[in-house]
Amino acid sequence: MAEQDDVVDETGGPGLRWAIKRSFVDYVLRMPDGRAGAGEGAHPLEGGEIRYEAGEPREVDGALVLPFRGDVRFAGHFGMLYVRIADPEVTIRDGKAELTIADPYLKSEERTRLVTFTAVPLDAGPGESAWSASDVVLAPEGVELFNDVYQAGEPFEPLEIRVPAP
Ligand code: HEM
Repeated sequence: MAEQDDVVDETGGPGLRWAIKRSFVDYVLRMPDGRAGAGEGAHPLEGGEIRYEAGEPREVDGALVLPFRGDVRFAGHFGMLYVRIADPEVTIRDGKAELTIADPYLKSEERTRLVTFTAVPLDAGPGESAWSASDVVLAPEGVELFNDVYQAGEPFEPLEIRVPAP
């Protein structure tokens, strides 16, 4: 039986809300030994989204850098499939954004660019900033993580970002 963490987040706090890629999650959970787990600040939401908790936004060389916390892992095919999407960080410059993740294999401090998108500002509550993105696509550096099954430019799920105002 495939397993998925129960929905545990009812708080709706600030963060990155993202279903990553539904066809991939469905694929993993169709496997007899498929597993999807979230922790360390990543909370499963209703409808298959994950909320990664927001860290402190900062400005770097004129770009806005938004760090998030959380560790999401997929496993299956008797250990041959292992995908970790942890501690995402979004960098926005002139509305263009990229999302990097911590090294999936825990071997280095280097981050991997996973997806790119256009960050569209949203009306946010007091003291918050928010963006949404509907054109999220796989970056060339993210192709290997999915065993070269998806090419660069493969559509991923839309996402929404809500953080304390920088
Ligand atoms: C034991 C080795 C593997 C076998 C036999 C295998 C088999 C398959 C099959 C049959 C499909 C089509 C599934 C379907 O449409 O229902 C598929 C899709 C896919 N596989 Fe694997 N796979 C293997 C390893 C991996 C590994 C290591 C990865 C790494 C992440 C991977 C990633 C994917 C992805 C991303 C898809 C496309 C899912 C989608 O969006 O529809 N596979 N694989």
